[in-house]
Amino acid sequence: MRIEGKEYRTIWFENNVVKIIDQTKLPHQFKIKEIKTVKDAINAIKTMEVRGAPLIGGTAAYGLALAVQETNDPEFIKKSAKELIQSRPTAINLKWAVDRMIKKLTGINSDQLLNIALNEAKEICDEDEKFCENIGINGLKIIEEIYNKKKDTVNILTHCNAGWLATINWGTATSPIYQAHKKGIPVHVWVDETRPRNQGANLTSYELNEEEIPNTIIADNTGGILMQRGEIDMCIVGTDRTLSNGDVCNKIGTYLKALAAHDNNVPFYVALPSSTIDWDIKDAKDIPIEERNSEELSHVEGIDENNEIKKVLIYPLKSKAMNLAFDVTPAKYVTGLITERGISEASFDGLSKLFK
Ligand code: MRU
Repeated sequence: MRIEGKEYRTIWFENNVVKIIDQTKLPHQFKIKEIKTVKDAINAIKTMEVRGAPLIGGTAAYGLALAVQETNDPEFIKKSAKELIQSRPTAINLKWAVDRMIKKLTGINSDQLLNIALNEAKEICDEDEKFCENIGINGLKIIEEIYNKKKDTVNILTHCNAGWLATINWGTATSPIYQAHKKGIPVHVWVDETRPRNQGANLTSYELNEEEIPNTIIADNTGGILMQRGEIDMCIVGTDRTLSNGDVCNKIGTYLKALAAHDNNVPFYVALPSSTIDWDIKDAKDIPIEERNSEELSHVEGIDENNEIKKVLIYPLKSKAMNLAFDVTPAKYVTGLITERGISEASFDGLSKLFK
């Protein structure tokens, strides 16, 4: 998608280094960063220079290719794979991508290893781009249906950033929105700010602005009253891990939005590529929920009058804060799962029909 009119993907390999858009600087500064080693890749994932489930999967894949570029030592590659998987525990895409890379590299001669690793990492990214585009084509039908009934702007609420910046391109939740906009359907997006890191305000609103899609940032607690007022036609969110029973783990606050949607008969859709499905964990209580540094809550970042990024404390110094990054929305509150293969019920039967 576009930044200042120029097409980008979120990650690419060029001149023996991986290049990423440093998302910690957005929306104030657009910086491309070079990732030269697997350690750099782990650091970029941990510090959220790259984030969003599909993109951290793609970064982990390239990270492992960089490990191979550093040395062919199988012990180093194994250790790197483990560290990559541990760098952010909730999004399943990370483990999925690393497992896929290891499977591909197992039994390969050392002189071919790097080429195969780089090709597989690219393949993982290309596939994600295609899957996200298909999610858009499938999700478009839902937006079209609402528009055909309403004959007026379709108002869509989204949470966090499940946009192209969270994937390789297109996004998951935003992909149907981009397709609708391309088709000339008038859409307006309510963007949850998404405290504490403000991915909605900083990233979703930014990328929608770049594509000239009308959007309005709201505080995370505003969605409920807008639904009561009939100002939200549907919600679309992304997910970091969806269980085979249809339970959806996503950015903290998603669950409360789903409850409000349920109470107000607002359809609540979740968009995901199949790499986000966890077929193993059966009980949502077993999903590892990331707890991040409380500084993400107690401090906020913005630009000062000299356009410099500054971080300031907003709490009493002595106050304790707790920062769980994800929650789980039970399948019963999910209207449907928009995947690359079609829209499924949020249930084992629904997902199995499409994927197994
Ligand atoms: O902590 P983040 O910014 O990585 O969280 C991102 C989300 O929760 C997204 O909704 C999810 O990864 C889906 S991305 C297409």
